[in-house]
Amino acid sequence: MELLNKEYLKVEAVNKRFDKRTILSNIKFSVCKGEFICIVGSSGCGKSTLLRIISGLDTDYEGAIILNKKQVRKTSKNVGYIFQENRLFPWLTVEENVAFSLDKVNRIERKYRVNEAIKMVGLDSAKKQYPKTLSGGMAQRANIARTLVNKPEILLLDEPFGALDAFTKINLQEKLCDIRSKEGTTMIMVTHDIEEAVYLADRIIILDKNPGGIKKIINVELPRPRNRNSEYFNNLRKEIYEYFFETKEIVEEYNI
Ligand SMILES: Nc1ncnc2c1ncn2[C@@H]1O[C@H](COP(=O)(O)OP(=O)(O)O)[C@@H](O)[C@H]1O
Ligand SMILES: [Mg+2]
Repeated sequence: MELLNKEYLKVEAVNKRFDKRTILSNIKFSVCKGEFICIVGSSGCGKSTLLRIISGLDTDYEGAIILNKKQVRKTSKNVGYIFQENRLFPWLTVEENVAFSLDKVNRIERKYRVNEAIKMVGLDSAKKQYPKTLSGGMAQRANIARTLVNKPEILLLDEPFGALDAFTKINLQEKLCDIRSKEGTTMIMVTHDIEEAVYLADRIIILDKNPGGIKKIINVELPRPRNRNSEYFNNLRKEIYEYFFETKEIVEEYNI
C-alpha cells in the first residue's frame, strides 16, 4: 500500500504531567494516511496516556495533535478507540451492540452498515449471540466491529490482543491487515508484544520511561504478508529487545 499525505496526523511536542510528575516529554512524530504505527514501551511509560491524548479523550497537556490540518480538541467518531478489554453491553447481542454505536442513519443504511462491520471482522455466524457466550477473541472482534461501524479514518488500539491466546491473536492480526488494506484505515496500536509490532507496523515507535520520550523510531521495510520466521524479521525483533533492555548481554543471556 502506497503511503501518501505524510503529515496526515501530527503529534507536536506533546508534554504531559500528572501532578508534578512528567509522564510524556517532547513527543513528536507524523503519521501518513493509511500507515500502521506500533508504539512499544515498558509498562507505565505513558503509552495509554499518549493514545488518549491523540484521541482527544485527554486535553490537559502541552503541545498539539493535528489531524488533517485541524487541531484535535475532543473525541470524534472519525477516530475509533479500541481498549484491551471489550466494552460490550451484556444485555445486547453482537448485532445490537454494533448497531448501538452507530451514528444516526436511516433503517436500511443501519442494517447494511452493521452487517458490513460484522462481516469485516468475520463474526457473521455469531451476530445473534450475547457477549457472555463469546470467546475472548470473538468478543474482541465484536468490539472492533462496534468501532468500524462508524467508518473511522483512524483506529487507535490499546493493547487490543493482550489478553488473547497466541493463535487467536495471530488470527486477529490478519483481520486488522485485511481491514487496513480494504478500508485504508490509519492504525496506531500500542502493544507490548514485539513480534506483533514487527508483524504489523510500517514504523515502530519505542518509548522511553521516566520521562517517556521517544527512544527510537524504526522503519519496518518488509513486504506483506510478512514471514515471522525470516532472518530480517528475527533480526529486527532482536534489535528492538536490545533497545528495551539497553544491553545486548541481557538479550544474549536470556536468549530472546
Ligand atoms: N489519571 C492519572 N493520574 C495520575 N497518574 C496517572 C494517571 N493515569 C496514568 N497515570 C500514571 O502515568 C504513567 C503512565 O501511565 P500509562 O499511560 O497508563 O502507561 P502505559 O500505558 O505505558 O502502561 C503511570 O505511571 C501511571 O501511574
Ligand atoms: Mg497502558
